[in-house]
Amino acid sequence: MAEEAQISFGGKTYDFPVVEGTENELAIDIKALRSATGLITLDPGFKNTGSCESAITFLDGEKGILRYRGYPIEELAEKADFLEVAYLLIFGELPNTQELEKFHSDIKAESHVDEEMKKILDGFPKSAHPMGVLSSLTSALIAFNPSSVDVTSEADLYHAIVRLLAKFPVLVSWTLRKKMGLPLDYGDDSLGYVQNIHKMMFKRPNREYEINDTVIEALDKLLILHGDHEQNCSTSTVRIVGSSHAGLFASISAGISALWGPLHGGANMAVLQMLEAIQADDGDTKKYMAKAKDKNDPFRLMGFGHRVYKNFDPRARIIKKAADEVLAQLGVDDPILNIAKGLEKEALEDPYFVERKLYPNVDFYSGIIYRALGIPVDMFTVMFALGRLPGWIAQYREMRLKNEPIGRPRQVYVGENKRSFVPLNKR
Ligand code: CMC
Repeated sequence: MAEEAQISFGGKTYDFPVVEGTENELAIDIKALRSATGLITLDPGFKNTGSCESAITFLDGEKGILRYRGYPIEELAEKADFLEVAYLLIFGELPNTQELEKFHSDIKAESHVDEEMKKILDGFPKSAHPMGVLSSLTSALIAFNPSSVDVTSEADLYHAIVRLLAKFPVLVSWTLRKKMGLPLDYGDDSLGYVQNIHKMMFKRPNREYEINDTVIEALDKLLILHGDHEQNCSTSTVRIVGSSHAGLFASISAGISALWGPLHGGANMAVLQMLEAIQADDGDTKKYMAKAKDKNDPFRLMGFGHRVYKNFDPRARIIKKAADEVLAQLGVDDPILNIAKGLEKEALEDPYFVERKLYPNVDFYSGIIYRALGIPVDMFTVMFALGRLPGWIAQYREMRLKNEPIGRPRQVYVGENKRSFVPLNKR
C-alpha cells in the first residue's frame, strides 16, 4: 500500500505522507504542501477534503454504513436509548448503569432556564421560524451561563455539556409552545430524558400528561438516527466556530443556523411540503419527477441525494420501516406515506436518479413520523437539531481536547488586479 503520494510541479516531485484511518480510508496529508511547493488545493464544497481526524462516527457512503463509535446505527436504534447514545457519542463508550444515572442526574440538576430568558422569547413574533428562535435562544443562554464560554479544562467542558443537554430541550419546547400559544412548561425530573422532552413540548395546561410508549419509542429512535453524521455542514460549522475558542453554546448556535438550510436539515420540512404539494396536485408524482430532472428548473426532489451516500442512506431504511410501524400503532392512515413510497419507487427506477446514485436520505420519511406524532411542520428541523445536539457536542469536545488549530481556509483570488481609486464625481 502507498505510504507516500507524489505531486509533480515545476519540474520537481514532492512526497507527501498518506494517512490511513482505522477503516482503511486513505488521505494525502498535505499540511506541508504550501510551504514546500507554494501551491494550495482548490476544492469548493470540500468534496475531497478531510478537515480532521475523528474517532466519533464512521460512514461508508458507497456501502451505506453508519456507525457511532464503532456501533452500527441499526443496532443502536433498536437496542439503545437516546441518552445512552448521547453519552456514547460524547465520551466514546457506552455508559454502565451508574455512569448513565450520574449523567442523567447531572443533566436534571441543570434543567432550569433563567426566567429572564422568557423576555427574549416574548420579543419574537409568533410567526418567527423556530430555527431562528432556537439559534437565538441558544446564543442568549451564554449571557445567563457565562462560564460555558471558558471551557479550558475537561471539568469545565463537562459542566457546559450537561448544562446544554439540560437546557436545550427546554428551549425547544418553549419554541414550540410559543408557536402553539401554550403556556411554557417545565420538565418533570421523574421522567426519562426523552419522555421529559415530549412532556415539555405537548403537556396541555388542563390535562394530566399521559405517557404513550409508541410515541416515546419513535421519538427516541428518530433522535438516535440524527445523533451524528461526521463532518457535515452544521458539524463543520460547530467545529470551525469552536476552533476560534468560541464557547460551546455559541458554536452550537452557529450549527443550528447551518442546519436550517433546505439542502441540509431544512430538507425534512421541505420534503413534507413537497409531498403535500403533490397530494394537492392529484398525486401527480410524474410532474414532480420531471421538474426534478429539468436542468432549467431549480426544483430538486427533496429528501433525495446525499453528498456522501451513493447508496441507500441506512437511516432512511430504518425510518421507512419505523414510519409503517408507528402509523399502524397510532392508527394513523396518512395518504402522504403512499405518495412518498410511490415517489421513491419511481425515482429508484429512473435512469436520471440511478446514474447519479440518488437514493432517499434520512429526511425523506422522518417528516411523516413527526407529523403522526403531532409535531408541526416548521418544527421538523428543530427536532433534527435536538437529535444532532450530542453529535455537535462530541465533535466540539474532540476538537477542543485535541487543541486543533483555528479553521481558516485559503482561496484563489480571481478579482481585479491593483487599480487606482476613482473619486465619486468621476465615476
Ligand atoms: N433532485 C434532483 N437532482 C439531484 C438531487 C435531487 N434531490 N440531488 C442531486 N441531484 C443531481 C444534481 O443536479 C447533480 O446533477 P448533474 O450532475 O447533472 O449536475 C447531481 O445530482 C449531483 O448533485 P450535487 O448537487 O452535485 O451533489 P451534492 O453532493 O453537492 O449535494 C445534496 C448533495 C444533499 C445537497 C443534494 O443531493 C440535494 O440537494 N438533495 C435535496 C436536499 C436534501 O434532501 N437534503 C438533505 C440531505 S440529508 C440530511 C442532511 O444531512 O442534511
